[in-house]
Amino acid sequence: MCGIVGYIGEKQATTLLVDGLKRLEYRGYDSAGVSLMNGNGLETRKAKGKIAMLEQAIASDPIKGKIGIAHTRWATHGPPNECNAHPHHDCKGKISVVHNGIIENYGPLRAMLQKTGHVFVSETDTEVLAHLIEAAFDGNLEDAVVDALALVEGTYGIAVLSADDPDKIVAARKGSPLLIGIGEGENYVASDVAAILAHTREVVYLDDGEMAVLTRDGYSVCDLYQQTVKKGVSRIDWDLDQIEKGGFDHFMLKEIMEQPQTITNTMRGRLVTEEGFSKLGGLNLSMEELQNLDQIIITACGTSWHSALIGELMIEEHARIRCEVEYASEFRYRNPIVTDKTLCVVISQSGETADTLAAMREAKRRGARTLGLVNQVGSTIAREDDGGIYLHAGPEIGVASTKAFTSQVIALALLTLKLGRLRNMSVVQGRDIAQAMEALPAQIQSILDRASEVETIAEAFSDATNFLYLGRGYNFPVALEGALKLKEISYIHAEGYPAAEMKHGPIALIDADMPVVFIAPHDSVFEKVVSNVQEVKARGGRVIAITSREEPSLAGKIDYEFRIPETIDMLNPVLAAIPLQLLAYYIAAKRGLNVDQPRNLAKSVTVE
Ligand code: G6P
Repeated sequence: MCGIVGYIGEKQATTLLVDGLKRLEYRGYDSAGVSLMNGNGLETRKAKGKIAMLEQAIASDPIKGKIGIAHTRWATHGPPNECNAHPHHDCKGKISVVHNGIIENYGPLRAMLQKTGHVFVSETDTEVLAHLIEAAFDGNLEDAVVDALALVEGTYGIAVLSADDPDKIVAARKGSPLLIGIGEGENYVASDVAAILAHTREVVYLDDGEMAVLTRDGYSVCDLYQQTVKKGVSRIDWDLDQIEKGGFDHFMLKEIMEQPQTITNTMRGRLVTEEGFSKLGGLNLSMEELQNLDQIIITACGTSWHSALIGELMIEEHARIRCEVEYASEFRYRNPIVTDKTLCVVISQSGETADTLAAMREAKRRGARTLGLVNQVGSTIAREDDGGIYLHAGPEIGVASTKAFTSQVIALALLTLKLGRLRNMSVVQGRDIAQAMEALPAQIQSILDRASEVETIAEAFSDATNFLYLGRGYNFPVALEGALKLKEISYIHAEGYPAAEMKHGPIALIDADMPVVFIAPHDSVFEKVVSNVQEVKARGGRVIAITSREEPSLAGKIDYEFRIPETIDMLNPVLAAIPLQLLAYYIAAKRGLNVDQPRNLAKSVTVE
């Protein structure tokens, strides 16, 4: 979604800011812009489209300066065009604002400002901020920002410059992530650490209701009543090469290929195989609290919601605790039954998804304990949950989530082990699960080594217009995830369905033009899936099957087959997801599409 980067120091900031924006490209955007303090005042360049377009605009009309703010926009109010791109200005062009989030009361604020003579040029909600700050400005930028924000309803992460109070950047946050990067004789502000990692690893995460003032030599943080807030400094331990492509054509392929390592990282130090147990240091729940839980609610969006469905099956089967999965966007607006014995598990790669965050806050308000399964260290969900299990999958840049998904399933398996062994799971059962988990990295590698087999299947189907994905039990959520991957990046319509439910509707769609992907490893429901394969074949459908052994009962019924290694039922999703990720990837790549930044999508959806 939108990205912010700002710099104040002694270096020429244009290239530094544009490079920072490029690191944020993966979040999804449709236009970009930059404002610099050039010694005489503010100068701005904006462009619709890729950062390369902004670079062109700057090349044909260069700007210079050592203080600046920059932005990538994902349109909410007003279509993507140069005028609606950020930064936005006041009437006199003396204030420049970049903003992530949504100003909900921008309509009345705009009308009020227009009545007092302010002239608006864009259709955005953000522009009201520039005019509000202009109206409140009396020589000191932070005072004006505080006054302006007092009138605003909604969410924001902002960075502001003023030509009349020039040696500072003012930043503030409510509901949209923002951090300060600390340098020597220079400081940064960004919505995502990736934007500034090339320059500093020391960061201060702002919390909601906080404002920062950055100068060359320092920074201060206060609340919106201008009371000083003491903040800790965090150190980022990612490497820059982790957010670069490392020789792969796309981040998505790199991230698919990393999965043997990333799930190892999720398990590291947590799996106690001999005792069939898991150690989860960050739960912050006592043994007694864990034993007394009477219900688990898992809430998430997108791919994370699919891993939640797998978690539900694991927890109910092996830990015997009632478990429900809710779309975060639905949970927050209904009246769910939550007690002080409810554990609300919140799954989010980014830790910033607005609906998921709001659902977690709602669960907390209703008395639940919250547990975040989050990849992005220091993200808002990770900081606000009561306890957590970090995924440690490393930065995920491709918009379509891959390695975060498998790490989420592993984290849920670790949680299942923990909860199950505190109840009625025997050490032998626990050990079987732990041993099967330990085997997964090598099994994934054996699938990845045969990626070219999936590429061949992709070749045959790259012109398809519809796809159906079918699975049962643990593999039904995998069918949903396979379909989501395909539609996200290839724009082919795809549906995931429980295999047997197909008879109640989708079967009407089946003909020779409808490829049907069956997720059919040899598990406890395999024989049932065979009947569903027969139903598709009888109607002329083309069958692609993910199987795990030679199956005489499928002889002559499948057109394309990909074998995955065998594991226990609950872990099949980790293996079965890999060829489906590859299938989506190769089909999209063969169609020549922008795999890492699919149209209309954003990596981190920080608006409702
Ligand atoms: C967006 C992304 C998806 C992701 C979903 C939830 O829609 O494009 O890939 O699954 O958000 O994101 P989260 O960061 O909360 O897991």
